[in-house]
Amino acid sequence: MAKILGVGNAVLDLILTVPCYPKEDEELRIINKNYRSGGNVNNFLYVLSQLGHKSSIVTTIANDSSAKQIMAELDTRNINTSNVQRFIQGQTPTSYIMLSEETGSRTITHFRDLPELSFEHFAKIAVEEYDWIHFEARNTKNLQGMINIAKTFLTAQPISLEVEKNRAEIEEIIPLASLVIFSHHYAKQTGYKNAVELLKKMRSIAPQSKLVCTWGVQGAWYCEANEEIKHQPTEKTPNTIDTLGAGDTFNAGLINALIQKKTLAEAIASASKLAALKCQKTGLDNLLTKVIEKQPLANTEQLTNSKATIVPCSDLSHSVILIKYDTEIKAYLNNCPHQDVPLNEAYKIDVNPFEKTLKCSVHDAFFKIDDGNCIEGPCINEELKTVAIDIDDDGNIFLA
Ligand code: FRU
Repeated sequence: MAKILGVGNAVLDLILTVPCYPKEDEELRIINKNYRSGGNVNNFLYVLSQLGHKSSIVTTIANDSSAKQIMAELDTRNINTSNVQRFIQGQTPTSYIMLSEETGSRTITHFRDLPELSFEHFAKIAVEEYDWIHFEARNTKNLQGMINIAKTFLTAQPISLEVEKNRAEIEEIIPLASLVIFSHHYAKQTGYKNAVELLKKMRSIAPQSKLVCTWGVQGAWYCEANEEIKHQPTEKTPNTIDTLGAGDTFNAGLINALIQKKTLAEAIASASKLAALKCQKTGLDNLLTKVIEKQPLANTEQLTNSKATIVPCSDLSHSVILIKYDTEIKAYLNNCPHQDVPLNEAYKIDVNPFEKTLKCSVHDAFFKIDDGNCIEGPCINEELKTVAIDIDDDGNIFLA
């Protein structure tokens, strides 16, 4: 466990999930809308706190209701807030984000009307108490001074810098950090065609630093101080559903691995794995819980109105009876309410497609296929338990 100080933005994200990215001048219905606290350093520290580290944020916070929400979320994210700088003037920075369900990719528009972190505020923080200091490359007017003063108090603690966008005088600040993580947005904004070109130039500016450049699905390029540039391809993800915060997760994974004394190559590989895991989940909560791919119970093509199909289901106490009813699919727990036995215990379930009933093979109880109600037999008026299901566009039937 390490103590990590992160300096950067805490913002409110309004996340609008849309079926696909809209064209200009188009009208589109939103599938889902939710507010979450975000900002690169906030997300980064949240992942690190889930990885078992002690995170502390240095950011500016307004005094409006959104600021209250951010402070409350920082608390539940286990991020220490004793170093935040509060402002009475200004408003909470807000990102309006469109998350495309089709591709999992996100498009961010950002509103900001809040003073930047002041040098004086930062200078009072006991940076020497931390094991790692991470900066977002923004607020460049104060950033150089902040890194320089931090360095006078630190002994061997690493300083990392995330360079996401081009900012004034950023090239003077880059050599001050021991690890610099560039995004492809920065590379493109500053006219580099690819990561290798960017890193070659940066290696000449910052020969003592570890350098990394992430390039979306193409992966990451990196080099140890003044060494050759290497490439790490992205991890394959079976199902990308949400890329918002994937870069922040990558950075957290990288620093977590470096804290554990992994080589840069090992750290990049482990950061890529973590970022891939993130892309398969919505949001950043419970990031380390394993993603379990949902297996369909069956496909509608396999079902008819005249036969009950029984499928095993490890998530439920019993197997499931699936059967077509007109154009619908009905799903019941395969358990007779009469004697707590599967309906096919003695022989197969007898279906009468004209009466629209099915019969328990043990004591001849007849159930309506429509609603599972017993209309004749020893458990009359009792019901089969309905199983909630979802059916996707390909006809695959899943537990809801
Ligand atoms: C994701 C994110 C969002 C935030 C935006 C700020 O990386 O930090 O949470 O709105 O980027 O640039």
